[in-house]
Amino acid sequence: PNPSLLILPGDGIGPEVMAEVRKVIDWFGTHRNLTFDVTEDLVGGCAYDKHGTPLTDETMAQAQRVDAVLLGAVGGPKYDDLDFSVKPERGLLRLRKEMDLFANLRPAQCFDALADFSSLKKDVVAGLDIVIVRELTSGIYFGEPRGIIEEGNERVGINTQRYTESEIERVCRSAFELAMRRGKKLCSMEKANVMESGVLWRQIATEVGKDYPDVELSHMYADNGAMQLVRNPKQFDVIVTDNLFGDLLSDAAAMLTGSLGMLPSASLGAPMENGRPKALYEPVHGSAPDIAGQGKANPIACILSFAMALRYSFDRGDDAMALEGAVEAVLAQGLRTADLLGEDGKDPVTTSEMGDAIVAALGAG
Ligand code: NAI
Ligand code: MG
Repeated sequence: PNPSLLILPGDGIGPEVMAEVRKVIDWFGTHRNLTFDVTEDLVGGCAYDKHGTPLTDETMAQAQRVDAVLLGAVGGPKYDDLDFSVKPERGLLRLRKEMDLFANLRPAQCFDALADFSSLKKDVVAGLDIVIVRELTSGIYFGEPRGIIEEGNERVGINTQRYTESEIERVCRSAFELAMRRGKKLCSMEKANVMESGVLWRQIATEVGKDYPDVELSHMYADNGAMQLVRNPKQFDVIVTDNLFGDLLSDAAAMLTGSLGMLPSASLGAPMENGRPKALYEPVHGSAPDIAGQGKANPIACILSFAMALRYSFDRGDDAMALEGAVEAVLAQGLRTADLLGEDGKDPVTTSEMGDAIVAALGAG
């Protein structure tokens, strides 16, 4: 049977960038004999408009059945005043939670043609290609006890960093598997100097590492990690870290490479029967209501998210590389959506022109 894909374009620029991914998917069907069984459905505000919920049970069940889910973005000002329980974000959170997607992969990859666009010096970022693996379902954002309590005559805000062995083990294992497919170097970041959860994290990472003798494991305190990421990011290949540190480190790493419109992500869970992990792929950016409907959105983040799906869910690493190469090629030709041009930038291409150019480059490459 064909590999299966659930496409959830969502709100705002979500459907606009997803339309360009569809062109890429069609190209692989026609030219690479790679045909997907695609179903498309609603998530977020548009699902709320139609069904009164940001994610129906049917869509949730379909997400559990398919080989991979590809999502655009959710949310928008129209939904800001909705009750918390039906906010667009809840659709995305439900997907992550029920699919138990505990490993969030955030690549920071610098395309040569955009090296000038980084906030850092060109030689620091040119050729950069690292992945941060962030634990996504546990840690301080979820630990109990939590809340704001009265103590004496003042209020106290409480959150708890809590990690079980098995939670650390599974995300480290995902990171080692990833390192095996890449440069075989993994750096685990925590703060074992001041946090017990960090001490345990370091122990478990070391233990899991015994199953991966080919991967060179190192440990780093996360604050030093932040410094090293900005000072010399190319020293890293794969980084694994907890939910809180990963949130900060991956946002910092993102800006090494330029625009939000360029950043893909994957969220992976436990292996399914076919050995591939449960998986949701999505651009890092949101629904960008300020530019929605104007043909200004950069489709590259979503297209690169599909490249990650090719690599991690469909075992098509060569095709993923071809697609990334096509993106590099159009950037090298000088094509830029508005977000990739400076203040005085002129002659941006539209969302659909960018998509067409990438498909043309695929054909040429
Ligand atoms: P955002 O990522 O949507 O936009 C931030 C800025 O980046 C805007 O100026 C936008 O125009 C620009 N931008 C984002 N993606 C772009 C692209 N592909 N091409 C060109 N420019 C792009 O974040 P913001 O404005 O904070 O949130 C807008 C809405 O999106 C909110 O409703 C928020 O809740 C939602 N959101 C959804 C996410 C998701 O679906 N995973 C993630 C982040 C925000
Ligand atoms: Mg963040």
